[in-house]
Amino acid sequence: MQRQKPIGIFDSGVGGLSIVSAIKRMIPDENLIYFADTEFSPYGNKSKEIINQRSEDIINFLINQGCKMVVMACNTATVNSISRLRSKFSIPIVGVEPAIKPAALNSKTGTIGILATQQTLESESFHLLKSKYSQQVNIETKTCPKFVSLVENLNHNNEQAVKITEQYIHPLLSKGCDQIVLGCTHFSFLNVVIKSVVGDKANIIDTAIPVAMEVKRRLQSHNMDKSESVIGTVEFWTSGDSTKVIKSISKLWEQDIKVFEAKNLTPVSTN
Ligand code: DGL
Repeated sequence: MQRQKPIGIFDSGVGGLSIVSAIKRMIPDENLIYFADTEFSPYGNKSKEIINQRSEDIINFLINQGCKMVVMACNTATVNSISRLRSKFSIPIVGVEPAIKPAALNSKTGTIGILATQQTLESESFHLLKSKYSQQVNIETKTCPKFVSLVENLNHNNEQAVKITEQYIHPLLSKGCDQIVLGCTHFSFLNVVIKSVVGDKANIIDTAIPVAMEVKRRLQSHNMDKSESVIGTVEFWTSGDSTKVIKSISKLWEQDIKVFEAKNLTPVSTN
């Protein structure tokens, strides 16, 4: 029974779909519920308190929908809230954080670049992560405030996106970064444009596949994996206006889909 339950996945908006795609490819039989918190998007410039509260309310909502596991498909929410939420909820919670470790291990120049939101880069847990590797490599960081809205508005693959990407990436390349870490799930959708700007000067590191692998591992270790040959379902929810969100999700998911609205998230008792 537990094994049949869905996995809940959330982000501030459509960015977390990059993680949903990787999970769907790796464990296609699992049922998935995706929650896009578009009413509160972007998280990158919100306070830690708001991010904490939204993450908690969304996890409560996903548990109410019967989810057996939650994936925080958002670096900003993960680095700010995951420890607190793991101690609050009993279901397994998987998160995503900027992949500094593989970047540090792969770097030949000894300088790596991290692209992320302001709130991720300012978080305590990012500073902690950074300090683990700062003896080994020089870590350059860059906030990319325009990237999230480019993706939300489906402007992530045009001339404007190239210009904005150049502004963010050129300073990192001129500092000698040979590894560029996509420290925000929205940025995965800019991968083609980022690659066109970076060329062969740096390697781009995305975390969607490692997160999907971790989800698979955790399901198996908790004996929660569905392991059937029947393809699972994917259900989409938003806290915002579904008529707007449906356009972005359908385009990025490359399928016609339905989006349900959950305007007021009702907290449930977790005791
Ligand atoms: N996609 C999210 C992340 O990985 C949040 C972006 C935002 O809402 O600012 O950090």
